[in-house]
Amino acid sequence: MPLKSSPGLTGRRRARRGIAAAAALAFAAATALGAGPAAADVTAAARVDNPYAGASVYVNPDWSAKARADGGSAIANQPTFIWMDRIAAINGVNGTRGLRSHLDNALSQAAGRTMVVQFVIYNLPGRDCAALASNGELGPDDLPRYKTEYIDPIAAIMRESKYANLRIVTIIEIDSLPNLVTNVGGRPTATAACDRMLQNGNYVNGVGYALAKLGAIGNVYNYIDAAHHGWIGWDDNFGASATLFAQAARASGSTVDNVTGFIANTANYGVLKEDHFTINDTVNGTSVRQSKWVDWNRYVDELSFAQAFRTQLISAGFPSNIGMLIDTSRNGWGGSQRPTAKGPTTSVDAYVDGGRYDRRIHLGNWCNQSGAGIGERPKASPASGIDAYVWAKPPGESDGASREIPNDEGKGFDRMCDPTYTGNPRNGNNLSGALANAPLSGHWFSAQFRQLIANAYPRL
Ligand code: BGC
Repeated sequence: MPLKSSPGLTGRRRARRGIAAAAALAFAAATALGAGPAAADVTAAARVDNPYAGASVYVNPDWSAKARADGGSAIANQPTFIWMDRIAAINGVNGTRGLRSHLDNALSQAAGRTMVVQFVIYNLPGRDCAALASNGELGPDDLPRYKTEYIDPIAAIMRESKYANLRIVTIIEIDSLPNLVTNVGGRPTATAACDRMLQNGNYVNGVGYALAKLGAIGNVYNYIDAAHHGWIGWDDNFGASATLFAQAARASGSTVDNVTGFIANTANYGVLKEDHFTINDTVNGTSVRQSKWVDWNRYVDELSFAQAFRTQLISAGFPSNIGMLIDTSRNGWGGSQRPTAKGPTTSVDAYVDGGRYDRRIHLGNWCNQSGAGIGERPKASPASGIDAYVWAKPPGESDGASREIPNDEGKGFDRMCDPTYTGNPRNGNNLSGALANAPLSGHWFSAQFRQLIANAYPRL
């Protein structure tokens, strides 16, 4: 039975920053508008503006044990996201714990403190339409199964009253909506699979359904995936992405008020902040935008992109208090190859290539990048408009296998994970830059983990 909205909150489902605890209790009923949960599920605290502010964040014991056992004790106590990457993950697969077990464990870890628990919602029909390494278990037309066998059971667990004091953060469906902007409709980067997901509407409707269902739970905070600067930082993609995200946030009965914010750089390697050049620099009268590396993009790093994209999202109709997350798990780019000064001004390419921290061969490379390092440690409210730096991709988990490996996880072989591959239009036909001998996506990749630790920046 839906609850009525409180007139005091003018239809917004999140309380303002700094709301007093007693007032938060009084506003509890207002956290469940629209198709809200049953009365028994009413939460004890109203949504806050930034769930990370003043909260501890849950450490996944499964990841932590792997990290510690592989030389990573310096980071093993960091919070990482838990990926609900298939239906079976809800109950736990291959000896790792499931959703309910993590939430129970979070209650004991919290020991009375306010605690954030972080999940990636990642199982759309026809998942990852422009790549093969993380194609999922659901076919392109399996939206009904996505709803009833995946989102509904997750929502049923998250809304249990014993979890009402946890702040449950969800990332909604990475690598989905941006693909419908950049990899469709006769562009050189288009794929038949992405064209199909645009036409059948199942990404947009699936995201809308997830937002509506999870957003109806008063202590769930939804962050939609917003790709990264090397994907939607070009003018042609930037505004169009924000418009599409707003459309998805209003699909399947959802509203934009189900959205707490967005996340940039999930599982990618984009630098947080390049210090040795900015987008406004010129070399002998030539803009850095004309360098091969920047290639007319409007941004050179994730922080400037996330802040600007937040403004764009607000003008596309999202609430003015949305916040951004940035995945900093693998964008440190430290080690001996890290430039310590600006590049030479002999040419715009020499200037950009000599100064950039990001050592990738091409900005479009995404799989198990050679030379990468752990980035900023997870942190609340690190910069204006940013709710937190988080570790969405757990360091040590592969992006994809470097050769064909038979499996029952729906994972394909994407040659972007093969170091001998010479590329496609999405990475400007360059070498993939991937590490060799990688296991399937999501599986532990020790050699990568050790390189990430060695190249951490800030240093460990
Ligand atoms: C994989 C998932 C995995 C996640 C986190 C994705 O690329 O497809 O199976 O859980 O990465 O490592």
